Amino acid sequence: MKKIVILALLLVSIGAIAAEEDTIGLTAHNLFDNRTSLGLSSRIKHRQLVNMRAQMAATQAIIGLLAEEKFEKASKISRTKLGLTDEMKQIYDLSKNEDFKKLGLAFHNSADELGTALQTKDMKKSLQALRNTMGYCLQCHNKFRQ
Ligand code: HEC
Repeated sequence: MKKIVILALLLVSIGAIAAEEDTIGLTAHNLFDNRTSLGLSSRIKHRQLVNMRAQMAATQAIIGLLAEEKFEKASKISRTKLGLTDEMKQIYDLSKNEDFKKLGLAFHNSADELGTALQTKDMKKSLQALRNTMGYCLQCHNKFRQ
């Protein structure tokens, strides 16, 4: 009897975890990582992560500048830090994965569009463009791993 109760409690908690993962969409963090590996060398892996952290910092900076209504500065960061750099282009070329490359280029294009939206100094337009750009962060992270 005791065993059955313990088993039932275990099943309920596993169900709760599964439900929570479903609502927050943590599919990439399940036991099996189904994302496509890019097969990068360890040197390029390191460089990619450095670039990624810089993109994260740039995104935070843009949000802060938006809150201060410093649109011009935010636009410049979007173009220079999230737009296509030689460094990122090299990583796409080395990955040899066409889908990754396509998604990456679409992401950098969206950062240029974000730069343009920010220049209009329209807060709503700017936030929508930022959301669109960040959609690519999510899309790529869901699909690919190093
Ligand atoms: C075209 C694909 C792609 C796009 C777009 C992209 N990333 Fe990434 N990012 C990756 C991959 C691949 C990894 C490695 C994930 C792994 O292996 O688990 C990564 C890792 C990261 C990491 C982890 C860094 C570390 O040191 O561990 C951060 C932070 C990150 N990305 C932020 C961002 C942000 C913010 C954006 C958007 C502004 C973004 N990324 C857009 C592909 C992308």
